[in-house]
Amino acid sequence: MSITNFRSADSGAQTVTPKVTFQTLQEKKQAGRPITSLTAYDYATARLVDEAGVDLILVGDSLAMVVMGYESTLPVTVDEMLHHTRAVRRAVRHAIVVADMPFGSYHVSVAEGVANAARFVKEAGAEAVKIEGGAARCELVERLTEAEIPVVCHLGLTPQAVNRMGGYKVQGKTLAAAEELARDARMLEAAGAAAVVLEGMPREVASIITSQLRIPTIGIGAGPDCDGQILVFHDLVNLSFSRPAKFVRQYGDAAALFRQAIEGYVHDVEQRSFPDDAESYHVSKDIIGALKAPDVTDGLKAPESKAYLVRKA
Ligand code: KIV
Repeated sequence: MSITNFRSADSGAQTVTPKVTFQTLQEKKQAGRPITSLTAYDYATARLVDEAGVDLILVGDSLAMVVMGYESTLPVTVDEMLHHTRAVRRAVRHAIVVADMPFGSYHVSVAEGVANAARFVKEAGAEAVKIEGGAARCELVERLTEAEIPVVCHLGLTPQAVNRMGGYKVQGKTLAAAEELARDARMLEAAGAAAVVLEGMPREVASIITSQLRIPTIGIGAGPDCDGQILVFHDLVNLSFSRPAKFVRQYGDAAALFRQAIEGYVHDVEQRSFPDDAESYHVSKDIIGALKAPDVTDGLKAPESKAYLVRKA
């Protein structure tokens, strides 16, 4: 497999899909072609997302809520994020894989932030990391960039700041707040950021920030004028068990699909219609006859010898 291209291993298909890089995202911005992005947290969904041609896959710390069932993103640890990033990495051939740095992993010191980010690259195969916050993160962005780790920044409604914000509230609604967001974005770009996620802010503010930056903006709850869009996978397919936010559009109902499948399975097991004969393994009539004859057990207890013969068959 070349570094820049991959060939589908499963289908043997001849189509060669170019590997997405930050250069690709930059070119898309310049050409006015929208960047597509989704979160993924495991092998199966990451494969589906990647095979659909999504440009950037974020192993978001939102997994704390949608996969692990926490009330916020704050509890998830570096080791847990590494575990999920590895699973996603094994699935993805085409998209850029970005690992979200969890709360506390880059807040104590810049040195600790760089060390933790290096773990995501070295131990989990991430191609970039994402960090939340404004101008206060500039030094970290510089140091990560110097360390050859591309950084995606995240501005606006930053869920790791839920306690400071007093809830998940739209940001940048006053002139001063909007100016601060735009200034932060410019400073992060100057510090070396490869892209910026703009979350939970008025469309107009995100639009102005997008027009002021050379690097791509990827919006979530920030209107249609960003260079790209990202959604949490579980929101997209109705697996979040919560009322969707205003900005979420659901493209499928996996909860209904899964429920129907699980209820069908439970019904069929209870009715003894699953598994049926075609879904069972079989042995020859000779073996069945011998199994039924008492002397074939040759001193072994009957249940043990039967189990052995069936496994071998
Ligand atoms: O953790 C996450 O999923 C995110 C996206 C919402 C951008 O940060």
